[in-house]
Amino acid sequence: GDPYPFYGRNQAGITTPAQDRLHFVAFDVITSKREELADLLQKWTAAAARMTQGRDAGPFGSVGGPLEAPPDDTGEALGLPASGLTLTIGFGSSLFDKRFGLADRRPAALADLPAFPGDELSPDISGGDICMQACAHDPQVAVHAIRNLARIGFGRVSVRYSQLGFGRTSSTSRAQTTPRNLLGFKDGTANIKLEDTSMLRDYVWAAPGDGPAWMDGGSYLVTRKIRMHVETWDRTSLGEQETIFGRDKGKGAPLTGHAEFDEPDLAKTGPDGQPVIPADSHVRLAHPSLHGGARLLRRGYNYVDGSDGLGRLDAGLFFMAYQRDPRKQFVPIQTELAAKDKLNEYIQHISSGVFACPPGVTDAGDYWGRALF
Ligand code: HEM
Repeated sequence: GDPYPFYGRNQAGITTPAQDRLHFVAFDVITSKREELADLLQKWTAAAARMTQGRDAGPFGSVGGPLEAPPDDTGEALGLPASGLTLTIGFGSSLFDKRFGLADRRPAALADLPAFPGDELSPDISGGDICMQACAHDPQVAVHAIRNLARIGFGRVSVRYSQLGFGRTSSTSRAQTTPRNLLGFKDGTANIKLEDTSMLRDYVWAAPGDGPAWMDGGSYLVTRKIRMHVETWDRTSLGEQETIFGRDKGKGAPLTGHAEFDEPDLAKTGPDGQPVIPADSHVRLAHPSLHGGARLLRRGYNYVDGSDGLGRLDAGLFFMAYQRDPRKQFVPIQTELAAKDKLNEYIQHISSGVFACPPGVTDAGDYWGRALF
């Protein structure tokens, strides 16, 4: 298809219909010079504006440039189309420490997440000063984009961790069919979609008055790498699997309905007097009616990082959710899930990140985070 526009009020890669592939990276900034950081953000923006349109990262390109210099594009995407590439940047709270004089720009909504019961987070795959989400239909294109941004950042940033994902686990548009996660369930049914204009306004985009003006039109990203114990899950009965989610595995319908998009009836009880959608089911505990209407725009990906040396797949969900304020959305929802969700027997949260994703770049004279400097 056609490339997605790079310039706009909001960054692409949030409401953009979720592409099938992800390469996510978190960088640590290793320069302590504020001007070098601002200069890097300008160079990254220029390269991203090119790559998202299917062009080389730099004006000379991977071939045909001066023979005495390394090419300004690494070359592995030569001949490939834009493949729906979007690049979305986010700033972690550590960027607002003393190093760059940005402490007074730190949004209150970029608060550290509380520790949730059951968390087993590993610091080396959590946090980061800057994150970059590359999504594309072709993994080669997503990897090429991250690699070139890391190359451009040499000496100023270093890669803290990165994650490949496949098989989007959410639809973010009504034009998309709902995909499945690695537990085999449809995932993304009750997600916020780009057609839900009023929900985007209320639950996704930071608005004037919410916090610092530089975030108006931006959004907060929470990432959680969630390992799945798929081998245990695969020995669990179908009935148990369906009551864990509160939805049917085939159509994705709520256990109180018939079709995928039927509203779950949380009040309905069965012949035993118990709720049909159980008290400890994922859909009930995450439901907006328990959280004052709070919702998320989920945009996660499946991952398999090989095997774990103990005969099990190292697999799960790289959960990503965009929102207007994590303190009012992700935190209350995850507090409820961490305490009660029956799914917890089969999953383990192993990494965590929170990032302030600024608004979109308006034109070629603008750059990511310009309002910060
Ligand atoms: C709904 C899977 C983790 C928030 C769902 C659904 C599935 C699912 C299958 C039902 C279909 C849908 O509406 O998308 C999973 C799996 C997880 C996981 C496999 C972990 C491996 C989380 C986390 C959060 C979350 C960490 C946020 C803290 C939600 C929300 C809904 C949902 C808000 C929609 C509830 C509704 O409005 O009906 N999830 N999820 N999920 N999940 Fe998760």
